[in-house]
Amino acid sequence: MATATAPAPAKPRHAKPKVPDQKMLIGGKWVASASGKTFDTTDPTDGSVICRVAEGDKADIDLAVRAARAAFEDGPWARMTSADRGRLLNKLADAVEDHRDELAALESLDNGKPIADSLAADLPLTSACYRYYAGWADKITGQTLPMAGPYFGYTRHEPIGVVGQIIPWNFPLLMQAWKWGPALACGNTVVLKPAEQTPLTALRVAQLAQDVGFPDGVINVVPGYGPTAGAALSGHMDVDKIAFTGETGTGKIVMTAAAQSNLKRVSLELGGKSPNIVFADCDLDAAVEGAYFGLFFNQGQCCCAGSRLFVQESVYDAFVQKVVAKAKGRTVGDPFSTETEQGPQVSQEQFDRVMHYIAAGQRDGAPLLAGGGRVGDTGYFIQPTVFGDVTDEMTIAREEIFGPVMSILKFKDTDEVIARGNRTVYGLAAAVWTKDVQKALRLANGLRVGTVWVNCYDVFDAGAPFGGFKMSGIGRELGQYALQLYTEVKTVTMAL
Ligand code: NAI
Ligand code: MG
Repeated sequence: MATATAPAPAKPRHAKPKVPDQKMLIGGKWVASASGKTFDTTDPTDGSVICRVAEGDKADIDLAVRAARAAFEDGPWARMTSADRGRLLNKLADAVEDHRDELAALESLDNGKPIADSLAADLPLTSACYRYYAGWADKITGQTLPMAGPYFGYTRHEPIGVVGQIIPWNFPLLMQAWKWGPALACGNTVVLKPAEQTPLTALRVAQLAQDVGFPDGVINVVPGYGPTAGAALSGHMDVDKIAFTGETGTGKIVMTAAAQSNLKRVSLELGGKSPNIVFADCDLDAAVEGAYFGLFFNQGQCCCAGSRLFVQESVYDAFVQKVVAKAKGRTVGDPFSTETEQGPQVSQEQFDRVMHYIAAGQRDGAPLLAGGGRVGDTGYFIQPTVFGDVTDEMTIAREEIFGPVMSILKFKDTDEVIARGNRTVYGLAAAVWTKDVQKALRLANGLRVGTVWVNCYDVFDAGAPFGGFKMSGIGRELGQYALQLYTEVKTVTMAL
């Protein structure tokens, strides 16, 4: 039957997945929590319950650590060649690629990030990370040592043992890969505690890892809250290393717990207040694009967000006009619509926190140039917000906001902006926009941060180390450097 007029094309939209209640993975078995307790994971677009998840606590962490210890000391993983470990990691990378659409939808459902971003960024970066560390598995070598005397000396880089890993909710799949890739390549066994806001993809990838053949107990996932499950893991006497990503204050708690228990090794990837510095001699449109992306990407929920945007005074007005226009044009809404550029913040708590900072910016007298309010009346959507004429001592220039709130500061010259850029307790990342190579290199040398981007922002590569100076963390993830986080060095000396 023919119709007179064609129906209006539906807005391109992905389907929201239905998710059953979730158990936890301990020793290769999917189990309920020892207490029988569960918690709800919710949809940030409306606060509705997606499903119930087994809530781990100390008893479950104990069981998981025991399983990880057994798998480390005995069984197929302990006897496997390093090449076979690499093969398993490659199979996990394949499985993540094969389940790309499913995982992207699950990530967007639990976290609220636009499906377009999950597909374009989170998924390819995740599989690339597993594949990169698959390549390292059989290339981890020690040294032969020039000994003074009749001795033969060499080092072995051995796995640390049972590794506890605590990850946040902003990039759940990717943070899991940053943790599991190097830990498993080096031959450790792991107990992962995903963030309570976003446990779903960690559990799904754990199932994929079981499916591709990781032996039971090599990976264990215990969902639960920080002060219970997270604290039990970081204070455990039989965990050899703890890796944590999240808030700087929580990092201190984790490190204290490590120190007060068994001095387990600690690596931390914490907060930031990264300066993004725009010089008058840059490609202004590229800088506008980079500043917009470097702040608003992932709803502003990035540890390395360019949250102090320094613009040189002679281009300040032109820059601000362009970036404000972009912010006002940003499409906020349904994460499952392919047209959406910005979804909701992850939780009511994060929504409240960001709104509190917007109020602080207004109280401190920064002109509000765009946004400032919520979008709609359900869910945790916030308007892309821009403050101009921000000064160094304002709260919004000092504290991590972790939301779609841009703070623009004015500067005059190079020495001044290096000094002001460094005037923070953080040291995670920075960016410089200029066509002057010398100036770019002066900034790259002068900024006390773990990553400097020149004429780009948020460019990540599994081979490029990432981590913080100062209170932004301890250690470097990614690249060859991350292998140091997951190995002990043993010296062997033999008399000749
Ligand atoms: P958080 O640091 O409390 O949570 C991160 C992870 O740590 C979660 O898995 C949580 O369950 C766990 N955790 C919490 N308390 C713990 C404890 N006492 N012992 C062991 N583990 C614990 O971060 P939260 O509260 O979710 O977010 C607050 C702020 O932290 C954000 O607004 C943002 O500024 C910052 N943050 C920074 C991240 C980064 O990538 N650097 C990621 C997430 C949050
Ligand atoms: Mg917290």
